Amino acid sequence: MADLRSALDGASRDRVAIGHFNVSDIVALRASFAAARELAVPVLIGVSEGERDFIGVDQIAALVKSLREEYDYPVFLNADHTHTLERAIEAAKAGFDEVIFDGSSLDFETNVKQTKQAVQELKSINQDIIVEGEIGYIGTSSVIHDDVPAGVGVLTTPEEAKQFVDATKIDVLAPAVGNMHGLLRSMVSGEAHKHLNIPRIREIKEASRVFLTLHGGSGTDDADLAAAIEAGMDIIHINTELRVAWRRGLESALREHPDEVTTYKLLPAAYDKVHEVALERLKLFNQASTASR
Ligand code: G3H
Ligand code: ZN
Repeated sequence: MADLRSALDGASRDRVAIGHFNVSDIVALRASFAAARELAVPVLIGVSEGERDFIGVDQIAALVKSLREEYDYPVFLNADHTHTLERAIEAAKAGFDEVIFDGSSLDFETNVKQTKQAVQELKSINQDIIVEGEIGYIGTSSVIHDDVPAGVGVLTTPEEAKQFVDATKIDVLAPAVGNMHGLLRSMVSGEAHKHLNIPRIREIKEASRVFLTLHGGSGTDDADLAAAIEAGMDIIHINTELRVAWRRGLESALREHPDEVTTYKLLPAAYDKVHEVALERLKLFNQASTASR
């Protein structure tokens, strides 16, 4: 079975991106996994600290492991946005394939210092673990926002990207390139979309020479996502779109079956909506570009 590093090497070689889907329950997990299997592409399942607290660290690790083994399938697990070394170590010990040490809200020097320490500690637990670091503020929550959160919009520079990667020895970098966590109301309806700075992605890739992750993928313009992959993005995170789909699906089931109380008869509607989003996003992320990087 291929590990996450070889899946990333494959994505980079083929100029596609690995879809990363955040889950809070087995509905979103199974729907994302089924979508990936239908397209025969690798998939990364992500759990933030809050999502991990809800499912359970060892429990999500066991679920993903069971899917990987039963289907002999490249499905991987990421400890998304981990803010303390303690929680990063907990995920590494539970067998996660990737940990994102998120020091993006710290000043640059402190972020470098803490991320570097996280890389050393995590690799001493599992030398093959993938460690991602973050620079630049893109907001913190995968929710529906009334306005763009204060502080979002400052782009990571190629110089700071290189300095950060060289100093920390991370495997993957998450920069700020016009992306933002969550959706504005106008994006939920599809009227408006996020746009990315593609030349900046290319410059950061050239300067940093590591795998890149695009956070805040929900609501991003399709053409921008395709161009971002071509410019060097290797992983794309989607969360809010799945959360909206899950809620819409459940709402429709509750509306259509007001007296139904059997959970497994209501939740398939949420599954279907999440599956639809995951499938569309994976199709886009895995459409190899013809241009060369
Ligand atoms: O880490 C999670 C993601 O970056 C998700 O962002 O909610 O805007 O899709 P999103
Ligand atoms: Zn994120």
